[in-house]
Amino acid sequence: MMNTIIITGATSGIGLELAKHYLDQSENLVLIGRRSLEDLDSAIFKEGNYLQLDLSKSGGSSILTEHLNKKGISRIDLLIHCAAIGKYQEVKEVCRNELKELIQINLKSPIKITHSLLPKLSRSSGKIVFISSVMSNMPCREFASYAASKAALDSFARSLRIELEGQCSVLVFQPGGTSTGMHQKAGVPAQTVEGYKLKSPRSVAEKIVEAISTDLNLGSDSLGNKLVAFAGRRIAGLLSVATK
Ligand SMILES: NC(=O)c1ccc[n+]([C@@H]2O[C@H](COP(=O)([O-])OP(=O)(O)OC[C@H]3O[C@@H](n4cnc5c(N)ncnc54)[C@H](OP(=O)(O)O)[C@@H]3O)[C@@H](O)[C@H]2O)c1
Repeated sequence: MMNTIIITGATSGIGLELAKHYLDQSENLVLIGRRSLEDLDSAIFKEGNYLQLDLSKSGGSSILTEHLNKKGISRIDLLIHCAAIGKYQEVKEVCRNELKELIQINLKSPIKITHSLLPKLSRSSGKIVFISSVMSNMPCREFASYAASKAALDSFARSLRIELEGQCSVLVFQPGGTSTGMHQKAGVPAQTVEGYKLKSPRSVAEKIVEAISTDLNLGSDSLGNKLVAFAGRRIAGLLSVATK
């Protein structure tokens, strides 16, 4: 049984499956989402385990730290950064505010939260998990800002891992296409999504749990996606042609 587990983006998709998995596995589970408690499944989300926090606004890391301090939580065993949004649009079409929101949620917020919680994580030799994407390695038409936010997060985690060696584990997990509400929220046309074979969020969450328990860095949900990520890093030009 872990002392404290924190999951951002716990209200839907992969984060929700992780929330269900860890529901009875810690003394303090802190599930973070932007929606109000009344709108969520009361079998999972309760006053005692839910923090409503809009991560598109700055100041989220201070609110979270204050929340934990009020609850007397001084140690964190597991922090999973799962919250993110996508924006399916060519760069020239994306409006400034949407770009700002995406960078705030996908990149600034996990970096600032990690920074604020480092003392509590170090006390427990905790694990910090960044849910990235296979897209962070690839040229991605109409998903440039999303892919860039994930690549920057990978880079942050890569450096953090060596800084925290012997104190905390830092893991990056890169899922491939998963059947969640993310694509619709990002504005991906339904017929585009239909063309892809998507994994279930539960199966992806199971792989994440496995990666966490074995300290596996750079895990993905399938060998195919690991190969795509590898190819993206080595032969990006060919992949750009293939995705035209
Ligand atoms: N789906 C895929 O194909 C795929 C592939 C690779 C990587 N991923 C990554 O997997 C992770 C989970 O994504 P998912 O597919 O499960 O998508 P999802 O179902 O849309 O989940 C995203 C979560 O982030 C939350 N969120 C969004 N904006 C927020 C804000 N301003 N403040 C607080 N929370 C906010 C969402 O809240 P609401 O429930 O209120 O929307 C939701 O709980 C993400 O990091 C994503 O980049 C997904």
